[in-house]
Amino acid sequence: NPSVLCSIMFGSRVLMCPEMQCALDEFSQIVHKVFEHSSRLMNFPPRLAQLLHLRIWRDFESNVGEVLQQGASIIELCISLQRAQPQSEQEQEEALYHKLQAAAVPSEMIKRIFVDLVIAAGDTTAFSSQWALYVLSCDQPLQRRIAQERAAAESQLLHGLIKEALRLYPVAPFIGRYMPQDTQIGGHYVEKGTLVLISLYTSGRDPAHFEQPLKVLPERWILGQTEQVHQSHGTLPFAIGQRSCIGRRVALKQLHMLLGKCASQFSMQCLNEQPVDCILRMVTVPNQTLRLALTLKPKVAAL
Ligand code: HEM
Repeated sequence: NPSVLCSIMFGSRVLMCPEMQCALDEFSQIVHKVFEHSSRLMNFPPRLAQLLHLRIWRDFESNVGEVLQQGASIIELCISLQRAQPQSEQEQEEALYHKLQAAAVPSEMIKRIFVDLVIAAGDTTAFSSQWALYVLSCDQPLQRRIAQERAAAESQLLHGLIKEALRLYPVAPFIGRYMPQDTQIGGHYVEKGTLVLISLYTSGRDPAHFEQPLKVLPERWILGQTEQVHQSHGTLPFAIGQRSCIGRRVALKQLHMLLGKCASQFSMQCLNEQPVDCILRMVTVPNQTLRLALTLKPKVAAL
């Protein structure tokens, strides 16, 4: 994932450098640890852990320091690569780094933005991909239908599959907002300043919102066949409004490419013997290692 963000920031040419690939691999690993350390702090008040200088706090703090340092060196490496091989005008126009520079964003801030994006994009996209691959590998007829759809250059079912995976397995399962004013929600009086949480997990599985909510029915999202969706806002995997996910399009593009290619090129099967459920580790993750078998389809193997 840091590779995707690097190419958004600087263009894909920087990824050709072997030194960059090593730096990005190392970066992915230390970023992943942020989730591990933060999820431990979900079970213990972080302020108290900091005050008592506990191990869980020290590990978290040193990991965040490492992430910021490695993020900054990646940006510096990208800048030096660009100096060595200047970009075309079009490449420059497309790169986020140049847009931020043109908007006079200080370079320290640009480094922080890069790190923020990498942290926000990492495990969210990785586990959403895992869940979608899991859902698809449990349904072989659906795999064939999506492969046929792709061969016909269509993508409605694939789009529906991704919506279904995000509905049933929202990686960010809670959205929290402080009420800006006194209000009424569902017949309850809520005072200004109260923190209100929505459980996307519960609302995505509510029969009042979706017909047969536990079934994966990609067709329910095809326009004109939406009688199985009673309330489309019952699923909001990227939240909504001003603080919604700014990486939504990047994430959806990645999911479409991955799932589409897998359905076209492989026959997939889930080998887990026990039903897979989700648990919360900062993001929603499977409660056991997913064992997915991917067999290359003969037509592709012959190419
Ligand atoms: C399937 C993958 C993803 C999911 C399900 C997801 C979900 C979310 C959700 C629910 C929020 C809002 C949290 C809230 O309002 O309380 C959010 C915020 C955010 N996301 Fe994502 N995200 C994903 C991928 C990404 C990617 C790829 C990026 C970066 C390229 C990204 C960057 C961000 C940022 C920066 C915010 C904070 C926005 C703000 O506070 O204004 N996310 N994400």
